[in-house]
Amino acid sequence: MTQTTTHSPLASSADLAGRAAEFRLALGQWYQANHRQLPWRTTPSLYRTVVSEMMLQQTRIDTALPFFDRWLATLPDFQSLAAASEGQVLKLWEGLGYYRRARNLHRLARELVALPTVPTSPEAWRNFTGIGPYSAAAITSIAFGAPAACVDGNVVRVLARLIGHDRPLKDSSSAARLFQPLAQTMLDPGDPGSHNQAMMELGATVCQKVPACGACPVADFCQGRRSGQAADIPTFPAKQIEKISVVRVWIERGDSLLLARPGKNSRRLAELHELPSCDQIGLAPQDVMERGALRLTRKRSITRYSITESIYQMGEDIDFEPMEEGLAWLPIHTLDQITFSGPHRRWVDTLLADRKYNIAPEQA
Ligand code: ADE
Repeated sequence: MTQTTTHSPLASSADLAGRAAEFRLALGQWYQANHRQLPWRTTPSLYRTVVSEMMLQQTRIDTALPFFDRWLATLPDFQSLAAASEGQVLKLWEGLGYYRRARNLHRLARELVALPTVPTSPEAWRNFTGIGPYSAAAITSIAFGAPAACVDGNVVRVLARLIGHDRPLKDSSSAARLFQPLAQTMLDPGDPGSHNQAMMELGATVCQKVPACGACPVADFCQGRRSGQAADIPTFPAKQIEKISVVRVWIERGDSLLLARPGKNSRRLAELHELPSCDQIGLAPQDVMERGALRLTRKRSITRYSITESIYQMGEDIDFEPMEEGLAWLPIHTLDQITFSGPHRRWVDTLLADRKYNIAPEQA
């Protein structure tokens, strides 16, 4: 079979677009029969849509589910969220990370309840802080039936395979912009909210990194499948990974633990607590590694950084010079009430559990 070469960035999208009506039908039928029962789908509302979309911006559905339920049980609507304190909002978000989303959601609720009417267009939703093109389209299509296609990483993967787009994509946001017009062409004007969710659902459950073409309702439309390339599409340049090591300290004094809170000049949120890094207490990593006892090592990846965090327990008589404002001794029995940033809650809980375990035999 010969293929015409064009200079369009999406060379073979016309074939797919030409079969849009048939495609929507196949996708829609599959979605109705197969979609996961999620709390924001089974009992939909604008509030549930907004909360779920903010949570899902950087979190997988399985991870977000318990947080969503807890959130709804505590703050069931925009009014209660608008009236909540920032501390309560951040505490409820604890464990989801990327706390800026919680702050933006809080701010959005406060702005929304002050408006005479709720805006319904994606353009109007873009005016809220933290609502980008994807979230604006997702929220307004699902809650109001706005004819706006949303393009997240799942949708990029699905569309790229459908048209056999095997050229490298620069990064996720430029890929989303590139595929936006095609997504818009394919959108079902009769039910944009379900169509958008179906595209995302397909990407999340069938057209995953390793595609399950045998289970795909739109395999018949897929150029990637025809050419046997689906699993290799889309391609992104390999990230330049930078390795970083962070040495942190665990210092108890009496029944208190030394914790750090970002200073006023930090871009990070002041309410979030962390185990202090050695820099924050004015000690060199080497010094801490030699004088302390290694209690925990964890690796994590953030964007292009691969971070190894090591936590060393230091004796309570360790002499240190706080280099940052915001260091505080907090009674260990009050730690449940404060909010930790990122994975620090897990680390602290793990080390407290070890500590209890170590102490128990002597006390028993
Ligand atoms: N990812 C983000 N929002 C989603 C939704 N409503 N359905 C499926 N996946 C999603």
